Amino acid sequence: MTTFKATAQASPNIALIKYWGNRDQELRLPANPSLSMNLAGLTTTTTVEFDPALKQDVLILGGSEIKGKGLERVSRFLDQVRRQTSEVLKTSEVSHLFARVESRNNFPSGAGLASSASGFAALAVAASAAAGLDLNEAELSRLARLGSGSACRSVPGGFVEWTLGSDDRSSYAYSIASADHWDLRDIVALIDVEHKAVGSTEGHAVAATSPLQAARVATAPERLAQARSALLARDFAALADVVELDSLMMHAVMITSAPVLMYWQPSTIAVMQAVRQWRLNGLAACTTIDAGPNVHVICTAAAADEVALRLRVIPGVRRVLTAGVGGPAQLIPDTHLRSIAGVKSAGYNLDTHH
Ligand code: DP6
Repeated sequence: MTTFKATAQASPNIALIKYWGNRDQELRLPANPSLSMNLAGLTTTTTVEFDPALKQDVLILGGSEIKGKGLERVSRFLDQVRRQTSEVLKTSEVSHLFARVESRNNFPSGAGLASSASGFAALAVAASAAAGLDLNEAELSRLARLGSGSACRSVPGGFVEWTLGSDDRSSYAYSIASADHWDLRDIVALIDVEHKAVGSTEGHAVAATSPLQAARVATAPERLAQARSALLARDFAALADVVELDSLMMHAVMITSAPVLMYWQPSTIAVMQAVRQWRLNGLAACTTIDAGPNVHVICTAAAADEVALRLRVIPGVRRVLTAGVGGPAQLIPDTHLRSIAGVKSAGYNLDTHH
């Protein structure tokens, strides 16, 4: 009997040049190109099985069944896979089958790290393989983009650029340098929050209400070119300046949109100020912030221990998590699955202090 089952793994990524706002909200065609690095050791592992016995799609995240909006988003994504299957394979029975999706993150939930990038990258790779589609990296990246924009950047490995493109076919991400090109680190300062912020999907939808968005979008390709050159030349000082500027420009848009999206907490600003001062004093570190209060401190391997040590004593920093540069999303053969189950990953470490 044919089985329609596959498992894949993917890592989250941190954007060095941010994606904020869409030209097409439905297709997630971005307002500007972006650049990111994958985060090593943090992984989402997802198994997809299309099953004739199912009467609807089923989603299990970290052992608990999810219904409502979360399930709807995954179901709509699976519809894309089913559609592609009927177009490409013509006679495929998968196009009529529902799927069971079981997904797990090896990083703590509630740590404030976005899992939609690694989640939809792993889902794209697993679901397309389970359905019998043989997609190349660009096609997988395009597919992941439909689930979550930033997910298209978690498909290729290392340092990744998401090109603007002009339509659904041409907007995807590719690697500009592999993970071993430069041993950068992302030291995440996890900051206490009291209430849940507006998610990025809603944020993208209101980006254009800020009068600053047009200026940010118009100048993004220039910043991206600067960041790309700095990355390829391993020039940390040049990279640091443009990474901080780009993050601040995105937050300037967020703060001036309707509704106002103010993700920063007092400790977010304390960390930004501290890191800027450390850099002036010679430490190779800079900050970037997504749609939340946590601060990602990008630094060289040589600066990593010192940065982590200093971050831990800033009031309001709850925990510090360190990740290196990660590889691409990949299929996991069945036999390998048993051996990795329960094994703690060595690629990142999370320490707690009070
Ligand atoms: C601030 O990819 O999470 O992290 O497409 O709606 O899932 P959706 O949005 P998402 O947006 C990411 C926004 C960001 C910046 C970035 O990662 O480039």
